[in-house]
Amino acid sequence: MSAAAASPVCPQPLRPDGPVEIVPGVHWIGAFDPGLRSFDTLMKTANGTSYNAYAVRGSDGVAVIDTVDAAYADTFFVRLEAVAGYDEITRIVLNHLEPDHSGALPELLRRAPQAEVHVSPRGLQILRTILRDEFGLYRITPVTTGATASLGGRTLRFFTTPNVHWPDTQCTYLEEDGLLFTCDLFGSHYCDERLFDDRVGDFRFALEHYFDRLMRPFRSFVVGALDLLEPLDIAVIAPSHGPILRTDPRAYLRQYRKLAGPRFSFGGGTDKTLAILYISAHGSTARLAQAIRDGAAEEPGVRVSLFDLEGGDLHPFIDLVEEVDGIALGTPTINGDAVRAIWELLAMLVDIETKGKLGAAFGSYGWSGEAVRQVEARLQGLKMRLPEQGLRVKLEPSDAEIEEARAFGRRLAAHLTGRAVPREIDLAELAPR
Ligand code: FEO
Repeated sequence: MSAAAASPVCPQPLRPDGPVEIVPGVHWIGAFDPGLRSFDTLMKTANGTSYNAYAVRGSDGVAVIDTVDAAYADTFFVRLEAVAGYDEITRIVLNHLEPDHSGALPELLRRAPQAEVHVSPRGLQILRTILRDEFGLYRITPVTTGATASLGGRTLRFFTTPNVHWPDTQCTYLEEDGLLFTCDLFGSHYCDERLFDDRVGDFRFALEHYFDRLMRPFRSFVVGALDLLEPLDIAVIAPSHGPILRTDPRAYLRQYRKLAGPRFSFGGGTDKTLAILYISAHGSTARLAQAIRDGAAEEPGVRVSLFDLEGGDLHPFIDLVEEVDGIALGTPTINGDAVRAIWELLAMLVDIETKGKLGAAFGSYGWSGEAVRQVEARLQGLKMRLPEQGLRVKLEPSDAEIEEARAFGRRLAAHLTGRAVPREIDLAELAPR
């Protein structure tokens, strides 16, 4: 059957305790968790979530695609047993091994030890840890993009889609039906036993909130996954959380493309961009920030902007930092520490992709001046590149120190345009001086 010929209708009334047929021979066998209010500590879940798992029947056997959180293993097995015997299971596909999908796996393998397990190479490493002493008991086959597995009349095709949102993530395509099993990708933490996107409540907020909290830090990997999946003839997207997407699946691909794209709808030109964000206690760090801006602005091809974090909510700056090529953070040292707004901003940067951006720190201090080094360590933790050692000035900057700040700005800008000789700071250089 071609994807275009597939009939993605729900041909039976939904039975919350039973399996749900997606297309003939393919069943949802997951679990509902309506009471969940916080997922992974990463995001709130106002009406819970579902853990979607699937069973696919071919003429030669049954494939189980993903499992559920261990707390819901019992209901998963009840639903699985309603559509297949354990001795019929020939394949188990693990698109992602986070506990909400692998929780019932060890017991499933004990019940169907003959099944061949298909997992990404990175997933294999995690699987070894999950199964521990039992790892050697099973037939485990790592798969990468292009590999296939036959169920008899039905073919599973694997696509390696790393970091959406773990290194192990992959997608699995049921060729004959155009069904794409995407695990977390295209998921929503939205629990509704009506299950299909044309039957559940309004879950648009949940789908986009989920993207923001789980996928946004990996948006370049999302784009890579979309490049890989978009050429497929897709009749249904079957994610591992929330509604099954059978109404115009292309619309979800387009929406994901949009969500993974630039935050600002107007063009920013071709200049490199540097944002200087600072807090100042007595005006000295502000003077350094201004001088850094002036110096950086001397470099052709760099657009520099200056923001006092006292003057606004932090959230909009996350969008800004996501889009610029580099940031310089200025903070005084108060009680041996960077100030709270800087730490809050740094904590929020975990929500976006920061790897490879230019980062720098600067600030005035009165006594010990630890803050700049602390900020640098955090920027390194965010996998930014720090080509310049941070700029620290004791109390009010002198004229010479203001000129030093201008030169610092010029060098940062030159690193952005590629006109400077790159130099990465070693962690050893960050020791307190
Ligand atoms: Fe739904 Fe990454 O677990």
